[in-house]
Amino acid sequence: MDSVLSYFLCFAFIGARVTAENEKICFPNKFLFGVATAAYQIEGAWNVSGKGESIWDRYTHSHPERVFDHHNGDTAADSYHLFKRDVDMMEQLGVQFYRFSVSWPRILPNGLSNEINEDGIKYYTLLLDELKAHNIMPLVTMYHWDLPQSLQDLGGWTNPIIADYFVDYARVLFEAFGDKVDTWLTFNEPFSFCFDGYGGYDAPGAHGSGFEDYLCGHNVLRAHGKVYRMYQQEFAETQKGHVGITLDFAWQEPATTSDEDQHAAEVVRQFFLGWFAHPIFSETGDYPPIMRKRIDYISKRQNFPRSRLPTFTSDEIRMIRGSADFLGLNHYTTYLVKRNRNKIAPQPSFMTDMGGILSQKPEWPKSNSTWLKVVPWGFRKALNWVKAAYNNPITIITENGISLEPGLQDSRRVNYIDGYLRALHNAIIKDKCNVVGYTYWSLLDNFEWMRGFSERFGLYEVNYDSTNKTRTARISAGYYSKVAQTKCLPVSWV
Ligand SMILES: *[C@@H]1O[C@H](CO)[C@@H](O)[C@H](O)[C@H]1NC(C)=O
Ligand SMILES: *[C@@H]1O[C@H](CO)[C@@H](O)[C@H](O)[C@H]1NC(C)=O
Ligand SMILES: *[C@@H]1O[C@H](CO)[C@@H](O)[C@H](O)[C@H]1NC(C)=O
Repeated sequence: MDSVLSYFLCFAFIGARVTAENEKICFPNKFLFGVATAAYQIEGAWNVSGKGESIWDRYTHSHPERVFDHHNGDTAADSYHLFKRDVDMMEQLGVQFYRFSVSWPRILPNGLSNEINEDGIKYYTLLLDELKAHNIMPLVTMYHWDLPQSLQDLGGWTNPIIADYFVDYARVLFEAFGDKVDTWLTFNEPFSFCFDGYGGYDAPGAHGSGFEDYLCGHNVLRAHGKVYRMYQQEFAETQKGHVGITLDFAWQEPATTSDEDQHAAEVVRQFFLGWFAHPIFSETGDYPPIMRKRIDYISKRQNFPRSRLPTFTSDEIRMIRGSADFLGLNHYTTYLVKRNRNKIAPQPSFMTDMGGILSQKPEWPKSNSTWLKVVPWGFRKALNWVKAAYNNPITIITENGISLEPGLQDSRRVNYIDGYLRALHNAIIKDKCNVVGYTYWSLLDNFEWMRGFSERFGLYEVNYDSTNKTRTARISAGYYSKVAQTKCLPVSWV
């Protein structure tokens, strides 16, 4: 019974409590609540116990000026040493599962599986045992952006060979942890790390928009499909686990009721979510037809001899189609979309290919992240779009959360979670969206990539100045513990 997904599959809709108006809002009895983190954002210990260098180590060390306050994840929340404290916090919260990621270079210092770092295996084994001792199920992400630098030296996700190296890495994980982990996510947010990392200025900072981002996405999809098939062939029979992928999907609402803005918003959804979801979750597989058509056309207009969006072989399309037991969905916010009427520029650009102009309403409540506005109704729309587009896949919300300024009195975080959970409840109960679990991002404050430690998403505040990286529960931790333990939204929670 250690499988998050088996648990979901067996019981998700048994005991859904009826909610009339003014009645308590309750999720199905077996709906699961969890919290999430990622290795580079919390572990620290970047150069100890045999760990290799990741692209985020390299990037934050060689370009400190690009990161808020020149910070880096060298120590972060020091969860490499303080994981028992983290698990204590989860027990306090009463969550049913913990989503964390494994650091590839901590397991394979040079990225390749000829050399396995036993200290790395030991660290995650201790964490998994600690979780089990507290009755908390693991939901494990294999790749949350910390690529071994040695593989980036070969081109990273733009080099097709990386799909095979990722399969080798995944096999090491299944062999080492497969008896303790039943629910796996191959990737976290390929859109983000391809678009921002290979198309922009996140690590590795390739800044190759409209080109390197597509190469990255192509190889990530191949790598994901190959790992799914490898698990089916080599492990599924004995381990009986489930493999999925986490995709990020902000809701894209047309800015006006005009046909062209309605159409632009749909195209943007296909470029943002469809890029990765269509090849895996649609009936036909492959890239969304509108994405193929637009990039082929614009590439030609820009004098490229072939499309900047690579092409799958028919074997690859088959291999990738259906290669997930469930969808992990990260959702934070909503954008408005207007059609971009500008002429096609000569240089490649994802944003030009996509053809929409994104904005947010100034009156939407703010967070401490410029991109994150509070729009709960967008969550329900996003879930309904997924239901319609991909035949209502089994879905786990693998991230949802808000950044706020430091402080323990975070009633705005409570309001955010409460609002988004109400939207989720409507999507599940009224719209019959097949969502079986919810994960708050994040358990504790952590290293928020280019934003350093400035944007805090934690239910627990971290004092980075203390030698202990002291963690203190915020008001929202009390609220979320009520939610996780009762499966109902509390009427009063203080
Ligand atoms: C590890 O990195 C820290 C900086 O975070 C540095 O002070 C220390 O010397 C490094 N240790 C080794 C063994 O390289
Ligand atoms: C986030 O909070 C910091 C203070 O901790 C403040 O300086 C910054 O302007 C805030 N950013 C946003 C986008 O609100
Ligand atoms: C570190 O943690 C220990 C035990 O949790 C506590 O007794 C001690 O006061 C802390 N020290 C600092 C400097 O925060």
